[in-house]
Amino acid sequence: MKISILGAGSMGSGIAQVASQSGHEVVLCDTNQEQLDKAKAKLAKIMARLVEKGKLNDEEASGIQNKISYSTSMNDFADSGLVIEAIIENLEIKQKVFKTIEEIVGDDCILASNTSSLSIASIAASCEKAERVIGIHFFNPAPLMPLVEIIPAVQTSETVTKKSRELIDSWKKVTVLAKDTPGFIVNRVARPFYGEALRLYEEGVADFATIDWAMTELGGFRMGPFTLMDYIGNDINYTVTETVFAAFYYDPRYKPSFTQKRHSEAGWYGRKSGRGYYDYAEGANQPEPKKDERLGETILNRIRVLLINEAIDAVHLNIATPKDVDLAMTKGVNYPKGLLAWANEIGLRKVLSDLDALYDEYREDRYRASVLLRRMVIRGETFEV
Ligand SMILES: NC(=O)c1ccc[n+]([C@@H]2O[C@H](COP(=O)([O-])OP(=O)(O)OC[C@H]3O[C@@H](n4cnc5c(N)ncnc54)[C@H](O)[C@@H]3O)[C@@H](O)[C@H]2O)c1
Repeated sequence: MKISILGAGSMGSGIAQVASQSGHEVVLCDTNQEQLDKAKAKLAKIMARLVEKGKLNDEEASGIQNKISYSTSMNDFADSGLVIEAIIENLEIKQKVFKTIEEIVGDDCILASNTSSLSIASIAASCEKAERVIGIHFFNPAPLMPLVEIIPAVQTSETVTKKSRELIDSWKKVTVLAKDTPGFIVNRVARPFYGEALRLYEEGVADFATIDWAMTELGGFRMGPFTLMDYIGNDINYTVTETVFAAFYYDPRYKPSFTQKRHSEAGWYGRKSGRGYYDYAEGANQPEPKKDERLGETILNRIRVLLINEAIDAVHLNIATPKDVDLAMTKGVNYPKGLLAWANEIGLRKVLSDLDALYDEYREDRYRASVLLRRMVIRGETFEV
C-alpha cells in the first residue's frame, strides 16, 4: 500500500521513515523544497548510523531510503491507501489541504491528521467523505516513540478506525484508542506533571532543581518537570497548556501558570534559547537540589496523585480504556509505571484521602477527586490494567 505524508518537518519526516521501514512505498510532500532536502539528508544520516551500529545492512538502509520519494505536489498522492497530514497546526490551513487531497485520492483512501490539539471532527468536516477521516497521532521522535493514539472523530466509520489501527499495529507501534477530546490521552493526563510542579514552586515549597530531583530520583521519571519543560520549550508548553485550558471551558484543573508565562515572555524558552528554568550557557553553575527525602516525598506524592486523578477521570469519561491510558503514559512519555497500576499499588483509598486532604485545605476545584475514584473506593475495586 502506498502511504503519502504531507509536511516534511520533524513529525512528517519521522513518520515517513517508519512507513518506509515497514515496507511501504512512501511519498513525502512539502511545499518547501528546502524542508524536503533536509528530511532526505537527515534520513541518510540516521540510516548511516544504524548501519554503523550493525542494526541494518547497506542493502536494507538503501532500500528504506529508495522507497521514499520526495515531492512538492500533492498530485503524487493519487493511488495512496493512506495519507497522513503533518503540517502547521492551523485549522483553516488543514481544512483546505484535506479538501484538496480528497480531490486527488481514490474513494477508499484513508485521510489522517497528526494534529496534537485540533479536533478531528473539525478537520473531517471539510471533507465530502468525512467518515474516512481519522486522527493518527505519533509522538516525537516518531521512529523511536512506540505510542500512536488513534482518534476517530464522531464522523469516522468503524471500518476506517479498525483498518487504521491494524495498519499502524503492523508498523510495530503500540496503538491506543482515544476519544476526540482536547489533548487526547497523553497531552491531557500529563498536565499536572507541569502544572503542579509549577504550583509547588510558586508556593515556595521547593526550587526547580529540588522538584526535578524528587520526580527523577524518588519517582523514577526519566526527566524532571522543569528539565522537560526546558527541553520542550516554555513557549510551546505554555501554549499547549493555554489551549487545553480554553478547550476545557476553563476548568481550573488546567489553569496555566504565571511563572511559565513570564519565562516564555522573557524569551527563556529553555535549551533552544540557552536559558529556561536552568542556564544552558557553557560553564554555567547548575543549582543543587535540596536532597531532603521527606520534602521529596511530599513533592512526588502531590504531583503523582494529581496525575493519577487525571488518568482516572479520563477513564471515567470514556476517553480511553484503563489499559490504553496506562499504555499511553508508559509508551508515549516514558512514565516509569502506568498511572492506574501505580494507583492500585499505592491503594485507591490512600490516593483518595490524599486528594481529599488537598481539596479540604485549598478548597480549589483543581484538587477535586474523580467520582470514579470515590465510587471504586466505596466498592473496594481496583483497576484492571
Ligand atoms: N513536534 C511535535 O512534538 C509533535 C508531536 C505530535 C504531533 N505534532 C503535530 O504534527 C504536526 C506537524 O508538527 P511538526 O512539529 O512536524 O511541524 P514542523 O514545523 O516541524 O513541520 C511542518 C512542515 O509542514 C510544512 N507545511 C506547512 N504548511 C504546508 C502546506 N500547506 N502544505 C505542505 N506542507 C506544509 C512546512 O514546510 C514544514 O516542513 C502538527 O499538527 C503538530 O501539532 C507535533
